[in-house]
Amino acid sequence: MKFWRKEKSLIYALHPAKIPASGARLSYTFGLGGIAVFATLVTLLTGLALTFYYVPTPDAAHASVVFINDVVTFGAVIRALHYWGAQLMVIAVTLHLARIVFTGGYRPPRELNWLIGLGLLVVTLIWNFTGFVLRWDDGAYWALLVGTNLFREIPVWGETLYRALVGDTQIGAAALLRFYGWHIFGLTLIGVFGIIYHLWRLRKDGGISRPVLKESETRVFISRDELFSREFIAAALVAAALVLLSVIAPIPIGPAANPDAGVAAVRAPWIFLWVQDLLRVIPPLWAGIVAPLVVLVALALIPFIDRRGGNGRAVWFARERWKPQVLLAVIAVVLIALSVREALR
Ligand code: HEM
Repeated sequence: MKFWRKEKSLIYALHPAKIPASGARLSYTFGLGGIAVFATLVTLLTGLALTFYYVPTPDAAHASVVFINDVVTFGAVIRALHYWGAQLMVIAVTLHLARIVFTGGYRPPRELNWLIGLGLLVVTLIWNFTGFVLRWDDGAYWALLVGTNLFREIPVWGETLYRALVGDTQIGAAALLRFYGWHIFGLTLIGVFGIIYHLWRLRKDGGISRPVLKESETRVFISRDELFSREFIAAALVAAALVLLSVIAPIPIGPAANPDAGVAAVRAPWIFLWVQDLLRVIPPLWAGIVAPLVVLVALALIPFIDRRGGNGRAVWFARERWKPQVLLAVIAVVLIALSVREALR
């Protein structure tokens, strides 16, 4: 028996016996949620392999990454796969969010799943940043220093939060160990259970929202087997692209972190370039804490700005849902413009 037909398997539980073909159309979802799931799996598996060699102490961390890169068999490819898998996660999740907004997939009864998804986006970004820090090279060290110092700017609770985050009065062994713990255990636990809950919720909410059929059309369904084979083909294509990318574009590592050497010319990881740009023009509390929170709250409000319920017209760019679409477009343009400005400096 095929394993996805086993009634007690998780894959079986997450796939309905049949789903409406209109909701499963590639031109409707672009398979982005599925790609995000697959990229997460690749990142988890390659991350597991990396833990066999990575050493989370300031003296040994950088050397252990260099060892993985230069000595361990297939080490450079596994490391690159982990990196590219993680970047694909960020890209797929962000585009998935955009697809939900532009097709109105957030509407009742899907508000809760929208908020869970938003939580997953935050987890994906922090997961990415904590992994970047583990390299313990120049760039990672100073990005960590700048990033964690932002918490000190928070009135009243700032210093306590900082201490909870880095485990000391300054960045050092305790901070590296904590970021390692969050990266491989805490965030993994939240991320994996979050994704399973998100997919279970999707079924509870009646499956993917779908375009309303025209009167002349009859409802067509695809079976669990058909859905699974489509997912399998998509996963194989994404896997091939990731392997190719990892072979032709290995991931560099800078010189080992040296806290005594003074501030290096740091560049934040690409996902936070817009924050780095803002830090040059407005006070740290506003750039590093308030601005990201404002973006997050604005996104969280989307299902409540547009309360048109039911299955409505689940189509791309419906005019009556212009408010969330304009909001997302404005946020995207501003964040991309700030990031490009910082990248060009
Ligand atoms: C690790 C992150 C995520 C994973 C693995 C994931 C996975 C998925 C999958 C597989 C689907 C069904 C297929 C599809 O729509 O492409 C889906 C639907 C959905 N997701 Fe996500 N998602 C993630 C993040 C997000 C984010 C960031 C949001 C929004 C803030 C979100 C909101 C939703 C909603 C509302 C649906 C139902 C859409 C509809 O019915 O049209 N998800 N997700």
